[in-house]
Amino acid sequence: MSDSRPIGVFDSGIGGLTVVKALRELLPNEAIFYLGDTARVPYGNKSAETVERYAIELARMLMAENAKLIVVACNTVSSVAIPKLRASFSVPVIGVIEPGAQAAIARTQNRHVGVIGTRATIRSGAYENALRALNVHVRVTSRACPLLVPLIEEGWLNDKLTDNIILRYLEPLISEEIDTLVLGCTHYPLLAGAIERAFGSKVKLVDSAQNCASAVKELLDQRSLRAPAGNPGNLEVALTDAPDNFLRVAREALQLEIGEVQLREVIHSAPAL
Ligand code: DGL
Repeated sequence: MSDSRPIGVFDSGIGGLTVVKALRELLPNEAIFYLGDTARVPYGNKSAETVERYAIELARMLMAENAKLIVVACNTVSSVAIPKLRASFSVPVIGVIEPGAQAAIARTQNRHVGVIGTRATIRSGAYENALRALNVHVRVTSRACPLLVPLIEEGWLNDKLTDNIILRYLEPLISEEIDTLVLGCTHYPLLAGAIERAFGSKVKLVDSAQNCASAVKELLDQRSLRAPAGNPGNLEVALTDAPDNFLRVAREALQLEIGEVQLREVIHSAPAL
């Protein structure tokens, strides 16, 4: 049995492309439909209720594309909206928190893990919970880094100003002697070089992209949802606002070739009162 419908992937902006890159490498036969909510990025400073509402709207748009599976390529959404998404849609929904936590537990030797992410992700405690569920002895030190997503969307990946901001955010983690750092935002792998400059080689960086892609592969196999072996595979990208820096950053930082970007309007649902 096989299924040639696309895998639907979404994020607030460009960050989820780090997951798309891993999916393309691991599952080259699959069609991927990527939706970036560039009209409303960043999500990370918004309330859990708002993020949940946005997530439902985007997942509905992916279902309209006939998605066979929804990949939430956003830690902010994954940390607050997975139960609601799973309850609202009939297709499987995979987030990025569990895969990131598993990768961190596999890497840490001193059992002291740092986590950086958006305010909403850190406030939710989702990584602490996922890490402790895997190993009760792990010590977790978390830090919200709200300025990093706008810098990445702007394409300031190798810039003195970005380096200084990173240092200011990471200094407490450096002095706490973590040995593993979870990049708890799918945008942050784009700053891996700058973060390595801040830490030196002592700290291992973990991002969920690779592990999330493996979880997707496993689920497709379990449910007989893999695309036919001869399928050429492709990537379609839609955004909710004009691309601006999107294409340049995708090309330069991720070496992802994206053809024509489609524009989609969000069909809003009423906020819960
Ligand atoms: N890439 C997202 C994440 O993983 C969203 C960041 C944002 O929009 O603030 O959290």
